[in-house]
Amino acid sequence: MSVARERLSTAARRAAGGAAGVGARLRAVGFARRRRRLSKRYLLGSGLEIGALHRPLAVARGVKVTYVDRMDVAGLRAHYPELGDAQLVHVDAIDNGEALAGQRDASADFVIANHFLEHSEDPIGTIESHLRVIRPGGVLYLAVPDRRRTFDSDREPTPLDHVIRDHREGPAWSRTLHQREWAELVEKVPPGELEDRVRWLEEHDYSIHFHVWGREDFRALLEHARDVQGLPFTLEELVQNDHEFIAILRRT
Ligand SMILES: C[S@@+](CC[C@H](N)C(=O)[O-])C[C@H]1O[C@@H](n2cnc3c(N)ncnc32)[C@H](O)[C@@H]1O
Repeated sequence: MSVARERLSTAARRAAGGAAGVGARLRAVGFARRRRRLSKRYLLGSGLEIGALHRPLAVARGVKVTYVDRMDVAGLRAHYPELGDAQLVHVDAIDNGEALAGQRDASADFVIANHFLEHSEDPIGTIESHLRVIRPGGVLYLAVPDRRRTFDSDREPTPLDHVIRDHREGPAWSRTLHQREWAELVEKVPPGELEDRVRWLEEHDYSIHFHVWGREDFRALLEHARDVQGLPFTLEELVQNDHEFIAILRRT
């Protein structure tokens, strides 16, 4: 759903043709260029990309990336039928990207997680796991969709207190709330069909956007993670990139 709707909005802009089509193409070029510019500036050596799917981050020549996802390519094709025959990245390691239990401490120069953190049920715990596998001085590259500019625009930003509670108590308490909010405000499921849809999302472990942020909401979350939770990083960049923002964290 998430992947489909972002692609549909691009396709719709393209379908408009003429000046609007040219504008959309220029925007897409600018979007990719800004991702690449930060990648070339900050990513060196070898590391991981979690959930690259159909849009792996471009990296400089000589940089080595191991691709991690929660399922293999066949599983991803079944989960995201809307991607059709788009090329998907080969999955080198199947692992839960929230914990990265298969990765050793301080073993990576970088971790890339683009359009992944909003799928995570415990974002603070996820950032902590990513920092665990990055060596001191290494980089966490996070691109996160900006809720104001995507299909999440009818949802309220996730309050910081909510994310803190997910981290402290575990996220099970809020799972169904998120699935209902997703079905209602993103998928626009009619009230009479809502409970069936929520059950389907749960049974299929469907990868929804559990939490949503604008750039400044996300800054507050990062500052809390660093200053109150004590996660070891400095914030090098937090920049808008069209319908997403990109945060560069350096492991201290
Ligand atoms: C929306 S796609 C992101 C695609 C691409 N990175 C981008 O920038 O558009 C989310 C990806 O994260 C993966 N994913 C979701 N939850 C995961 C988890 N717990 N562990 C590992 N991968 C996960 C999905 O399978 C999918 O490949």
